[in-house]
Amino acid sequence: MASFLKTYVLFFDRCQVKYIYTGRIKGDDSQEENMAETINSVRGMRDILPRETKIWQIVEREAFNVIEEFGFEEIRVPVVEELRLFQRSVGSFTDIVQKEMYVFKDKGDRLLALRPEATASVVRAYLQHQLHAKKRVTRLYYSGPMFRYDRPQKGRYRQFYQIGAEIFGGESPYFDAELIVILSRILNRLKVSHYSFEINSVGCDRCKIEYSNILQKFLILRANELCQDCQTRLRHNVLRVLDCKVVSCRDIIKDVPSIQQILCDGCKKHQQTIYNCLMNHNIQFIENSHLVRGLDYYTMTVFELKINGEETAVAGGGRYNNLVKDLGGPHTPAAGFAIGMDRLCDLVAPETKEGIEILVFFLGDKALQQGTILINNSRIEGIKLILDYNERSLKNHLKVADREEAKHVLILGDDELVENCFLYRNMKDGSQKHIKFDQFSNFLKGLKNV
Ligand code: HAM
Repeated sequence: MASFLKTYVLFFDRCQVKYIYTGRIKGDDSQEENMAETINSVRGMRDILPRETKIWQIVEREAFNVIEEFGFEEIRVPVVEELRLFQRSVGSFTDIVQKEMYVFKDKGDRLLALRPEATASVVRAYLQHQLHAKKRVTRLYYSGPMFRYDRPQKGRYRQFYQIGAEIFGGESPYFDAELIVILSRILNRLKVSHYSFEINSVGCDRCKIEYSNILQKFLILRANELCQDCQTRLRHNVLRVLDCKVVSCRDIIKDVPSIQQILCDGCKKHQQTIYNCLMNHNIQFIENSHLVRGLDYYTMTVFELKINGEETAVAGGGRYNNLVKDLGGPHTPAAGFAIGMDRLCDLVAPETKEGIEILVFFLGDKALQQGTILINNSRIEGIKLILDYNERSLKNHLKVADREEAKHVLILGDDELVENCFLYRNMKDGSQKHIKFDQFSNFLKGLKNV
């Protein structure tokens, strides 16, 4: 079947999005030709399999618990937003917007993007639903997939997951500190201990401009030695030069004047209060005066959570006092963080305590019909009763149980039905016993308490 689907190939030239209509989707005919070929996941987008999702569930549970204990409420925002939302928030000259966004036009000719992060969406929702009119301080959290067309490698994916938290309406440095305390608590609950925070201030509006000018003057003298990207940053977004990973740029960056030297009294006091608060909480941190982060909206505090000895951050965040206003709302100081779930889950050991699973087999139709009802009506929290409806002999059922390394097996056949009981087999020691139907719930409760 010929394809009538149309595709647009998008690419960016700075911030101008160009479209080329390429007619039919090329791969469509080959699909018809080679139906037997298996299809793998898209580069940079992976499946998270049951062995891993067990850890993800633990991490999500602990993170949501801690965040909720601090009074945050969940918000769910769409994965697709208007492109201009990210241009106006993350920044048109950031790598994320210039190089890493998945952008497309929908059938209504709207220019849309898969979200590369969620802070912009949460601010959009905060304004769209006038949440600012309801509470003086609003604490929101979210989780879900984000999309960045980055170079895939371990810990860096094109679809990755974040859990994030944002506070709106809080000017005090104690709000910034609260976010770091939350992150620290989440890691402690997950028994991850070898981490610390890197913290910096990118300054208030005035300090940011003053420092950008100083930086520009310093870097312009060595502009020829900077990489192509940094030469553009020098003109449009000079602070981003500090984040460049190119070796020749890093060499120049190590000599740049520190922002700490020019911070105003207000910025200094803000930063010192955070430091005091973290020290009082015994939270380890270092001041990194080159830390600027890859998003344009930050003012004053920026921070990253790193595992000792590693380059990549497990979480990052900071204060963004202008973003709500820049997106059309009232002046609202705000701050937040996002945890990279893919990276955090890699650090967490699986739970050692296994849950109880009982494999249930039936011998014959009658046993299957009556047994499923009996079992489903007896289920209790904390015990998995896994029913195998396939027809097999008792011998073959037990072979399956062995292969699947089942610890507990329950069998129901004609003989057991007549006796109103199940046959229970402990696969570990081979012992067997009959359990009357009316005793089954008690038996399960007993197993749970062993
Ligand atoms: P971000 O630093 O871009 O900040 O991302 C936060 C975390 O997401 C990173 O520290 C990292 O763990 C994870 N992450 C980022 N990119 C990838 C990737 N390609 N693959 C795997 N993990 C990744 C933000 O997104 C801000 N919205 C944080 C924030 C919230 N600031 C204020 N409020």
